[in-house]
Amino acid sequence: MASSEQEQLWNGSSGQAWVESQELLDHVLAPFETLLVEAAAVRSPGRLLDVGCGTGSTTLAIARRLGTSARCTGIDISQPMLALATARAAREGSPAEFIRADAQTHPFEPASFDAVMSRFGVMFFDDPVRAFANLRRASRAGAELRCVVWRSPDENPFMTTAERAAAPLLPSVPPRVPDAPGQFGFASSERVQRILEQSGWTGIDIQPIDVDCTFPERELTRHATRFGPLARVLDDADERTRTRVVETVRAAFEPYVHGADVRFVAACWMIAARAP
Ligand SMILES: C[S@@+](CC[C@H](N)C(=O)[O-])C[C@H]1O[C@@H](n2cnc3c(N)ncnc32)[C@H](O)[C@@H]1O
Repeated sequence: MASSEQEQLWNGSSGQAWVESQELLDHVLAPFETLLVEAAAVRSPGRLLDVGCGTGSTTLAIARRLGTSARCTGIDISQPMLALATARAAREGSPAEFIRADAQTHPFEPASFDAVMSRFGVMFFDDPVRAFANLRRASRAGAELRCVVWRSPDENPFMTTAERAAAPLLPSVPPRVPDAPGQFGFASSERVQRILEQSGWTGIDIQPIDVDCTFPERELTRHATRFGPLARVLDDADERTRTRVVETVRAAFEPYVHGADVRFVAACWMIAARAP
């Protein structure tokens, strides 16, 4: 299994938050799903692997788009997120299948996938070279790897607004550590390039993409306090501090509020590579 910290987060508070906010997150991240579905449709793979598939949105969307000609598999370490993915698949009669395992070490059938993709699911490995080498072995010669990851926190100020606003009131909010497993673990494209080269991928292409995202303002406070480093310490704060944090955080998001909507730009990398 993945490092026990990631294992605990995704089977604990982070996994639970993603399950509870599945509809909202899928709405916010829908533009990335579209990009990945379109890319998959161009190549029409017979077997596709969705890494860190979470609650299954992208796996199910690609399975829907490719139809019965494709076998789509999602892999994830999070039991609660996969339980929701499986229930969603059953609800829509999808043939997509889900495996609960660590993508870094899972003994995939060698050369079995024609495409490997991920929406924000590959930045959490404690040994990324090992992980991507494992995914490369699972891929047929010529198979495409396509992943979306976040660029730096500086380029994504929306994502760190809550923790920056809360820091004076809650000094225990853990700092973001560059290159550490987590949301911004793949922010350095040079590092990603090295990881992919060292794990044996070829034709590596890493392009910046800036994607407009939106969600309803009524969801803002919940969204801002349920995810990221702030969420990890806010539950332990006393009631008075919590109230002040929520007010302060909400005010800090004002520049992103446009009437009934919240709008922000997601600064990401679209990573593509090929199995040799
Ligand atoms: C930010 S969420 C993205 C979920 C999903 N791809 C989406 O876009 O809705 C990251 C996902 O990666 C999963 N993950 C983290 N480390 C993993 C590992 N070593 N192997 C498989 N999945 C992992 C987490 O459990 C989580 O579901």
